[in-house]
Amino acid sequence: MICVFGATGRIGREVCNLLDQMQISYRAVSRDMTRAKAIVNAFPNKAGVPMAANMSEPGSVRAALHGASSVFLITEFSEGQTRLQKLVVDIALQSGVSRLVKVATMHRLVGQHSPVGVGRSHWEVEEYIRSRKLAYTFLHPTYFMQNLLDQAAPAIASGRPILLPFANSTRIAMIDCRDIAAVAVEALIHDGHAQKTYELTGPEAITFSELAQLATQIYGKRVRYRAAPEWLAKIALRFKKPNQWERVHLSGMIHEVNAGCANSVSPVFFKLMKRPAISISQFLVDYRLQMLGSASR
Ligand SMILES: NC(=O)c1ccc[n+]([C@@H]2O[C@H](COP(=O)([O-])OP(=O)(O)OC[C@H]3O[C@@H](n4cnc5c(N)ncnc54)[C@H](OP(=O)(O)O)[C@@H]3O)[C@@H](O)[C@H]2O)c1
Repeated sequence: MICVFGATGRIGREVCNLLDQMQISYRAVSRDMTRAKAIVNAFPNKAGVPMAANMSEPGSVRAALHGASSVFLITEFSEGQTRLQKLVVDIALQSGVSRLVKVATMHRLVGQHSPVGVGRSHWEVEEYIRSRKLAYTFLHPTYFMQNLLDQAAPAIASGRPILLPFANSTRIAMIDCRDIAAVAVEALIHDGHAQKTYELTGPEAITFSELAQLATQIYGKRVRYRAAPEWLAKIALRFKKPNQWERVHLSGMIHEVNAGCANSVSPVFFKLMKRPAISISQFLVDYRLQMLGSASR
């Protein structure tokens, strides 16, 4: 039995989708039973079992992991991420789980001396897992293409320029969450991935200006990009994010991406999956409705 934490998230949902397609039974975990049920019912084979569990409540995590052999582990970035993930690891070991696939952050940011807190947090959890008897696979994906649904779609739909704090020269090898999920499922169900760390990127590193040009061609409407300076983003974050930890985290990530931490294409996805990763053009085609919003329908 595979236990999928973060089943309602952007990668977790795709992990459930793929397991359902393969008719492999799994548990879909969410803090909210209604949302867990909705995930299981979204897929035709109904191979999943919905589970309500909160990583900060050990009893519920124990119930979710009872009898499980493999775990997919992810949380959204938060101050409590290290504590929550270590707790899941402890209970997984007590429950007899033998295989764990964990999603961390961009490869160049995971480290003891990472300039961003989230990179240090993921490194600490990875070290914790390394020191235990568990077959682990660590996934280090770059910037998610699905971020564009929040960060670019509203501007595209309303005809405004996409305004983000990434310089015109900043290249990002964005990856589609569907591809991260594909690698996660590969590592969950096949041997040969134990004690491995995979740097995952998309097939090309592009700038936001190039992305706007592609969107213009694909959607047949003018899409523009305007780079906001980092100092302006810091001011905007003060209004948007009341939590100081989150503000520091986001400013740090923006700075590191502009410094080039996500600008190179990794060959790992192709080697593992024997196909190219999804391109940004394909993403824009597949998510046309969401990117153009109700204005296009
Ligand atoms: N965004 C990027 O570009 C990017 C790039 C590289 C790496 N990452 C990493 O990707 C990870 C996920 O980020 P995301 O923003 O895409 O999140 P997400 O996977 O879309 O959502 C987070 C998931 O975690 C679950 N969760 C959160 N707290 C929980 C708790 N206490 N107990 C049980 N489940 C809990 C949520 O489930 P419920 O709400 O249903 O309970 C949700 O399904 C982060 O670690 C981040 O560092 C992000």
